[in-house]
Amino acid sequence: MTIIDQYPPIAPELAVEPTWAVAFDIYRNVHKGIRAELFAVTASAGTVDPGDRAGRAALAAHVADVAAMLDEHAVHEDLHVLPVLEAYVPALFERNASDHAALDARVARLAERACGITDAPPAERRARVHNLYLDLASFTGAYLGHQDFEERVVMPAVLDAIGIEGAIVVHEEIVSSIPPPAMAKSLSIMLPAMNVDDRAELLGGVKQAAPAEVFGAIWGLARSLLAPADVRAVAARIGAPA
Ligand SMILES: [Fe+2]
Repeated sequence: MTIIDQYPPIAPELAVEPTWAVAFDIYRNVHKGIRAELFAVTASAGTVDPGDRAGRAALAAHVADVAAMLDEHAVHEDLHVLPVLEAYVPALFERNASDHAALDARVARLAERACGITDAPPAERRARVHNLYLDLASFTGAYLGHQDFEERVVMPAVLDAIGIEGAIVVHEEIVSSIPPPAMAKSLSIMLPAMNVDDRAELLGGVKQAAPAEVFGAIWGLARSLLAPADVRAVAARIGAPA
């Protein structure tokens, strides 16, 4: 295999109707959060001063954080979504499982290469930081394609297979498997990346279904994360104190 073979030709643009929407989307909010983090860490790698040890250490820590988030997300999908595909849509199961294995390996390599920048010798710093930036950008490109496939191909297939009720059960199984501290961390990444419709749906759902103290804690978190105008917009929609 030559290096050119490692760069597949660009796929033609997808022709998806602009009004297309799925009736229920397990991926929407969490994938928005993941995209925002991938863009943020890639931008940091592009702008950090290669001569600043604290900056390099912070970038390495951010990459480690993103890698842990991606690992956790992959575990949730592997445990809760892949079994549905395996049972109902074997071709999608094969494809998604092999994509996950390939992405997992790339995440591990990224995390390893990020570890090498903090204490790199002076002569290597600029090259190591730039290669990490290119690695992150290339990985983000691959990951965005994977997310698009899940949102536009896998999610409709899951709905065809088990219906909205079944998909809601899968989503609830994933949410209830996440311990509160990890959920708080996850929400702190997702909520700022979501729009007012997404936030009102998520937070309004928690307000309706969860005990008052649980909603109070999550609403407090949302208020600490969002700009005052964004808090007021959601508060008005769900009838919560701004
Ligand atoms: Fe995935």
